[in-house]
Amino acid sequence: MQNNLRVVTLDGPAGVGKTTLAKRVAQELSIAYLDTGAMFRIFGWKFGKSAQNMSEKELEDHIAQYTFSLSGIGFDSVLSVNGAPVGDEIRTEEVAALASSVAKLPAVRNALKRVQREISTQTSLVAEGRDMGSVVFPTAKYKFFLDATAEERGARRFNQLQEMGKEADLDRIIEQIKERDLQDRTRTIAPLVAAKDAHIIDTTHLDIDGVFNSIMNFFD
Ligand code: DC
Repeated sequence: MQNNLRVVTLDGPAGVGKTTLAKRVAQELSIAYLDTGAMFRIFGWKFGKSAQNMSEKELEDHIAQYTFSLSGIGFDSVLSVNGAPVGDEIRTEEVAALASSVAKLPAVRNALKRVQREISTQTSLVAEGRDMGSVVFPTAKYKFFLDATAEERGARRFNQLQEMGKEADLDRIIEQIKERDLQDRTRTIAPLVAAKDAHIIDTTHLDIDGVFNSIMNFFD
């Protein structure tokens, strides 16, 4: 890895505001933003529930058909799969649940870890995910872990949906967040956990600017 390349890791549970913050931090630092959740969503979307019944070898063969690339900086970062930018088709609760399921499979995690590390040899980046600081980039100099209660995260998501004029059921959203938390925190490989040397930021009582400022305070 070239000396001038750097990796900032931003991990935390679903709905904590990682994406907004990771993009903003990447923009401020003029480096790329990598959405690793989108990579798991792609496999969840493409493989569906059948992934759970595939052998390690079958999965590896399927995975080998996909190549990922990252271009651009900050808000303009673009993650592509097989040359085409990842679109909104993966941004549904259904795909999120499938992503959380395939994220338990060693073949998927290992393949994506390799790809994520490979991308980091080509560009400096803010890597957003669940295990960026703990597993994929253990030697990263800047590691952050954002947290907030499931109720607070559910309320934020509910407000977002309402602002977009979409129908939303707060109790159902909180329930889905708790289900995904449980799945992400209790899986055997690379569970959602803060790296020992990560800066943990409880965002429950902070707005986006407050979290952004506390992150940026750590940079020289
Ligand atoms: O961040 P997201 O909601 O788009 O992530 C979708 C799912 O992918 C999430 O439930 C857990 C999984 N994931 C993971 O296991 N490791 C990552 N680095 C990123 C996401």
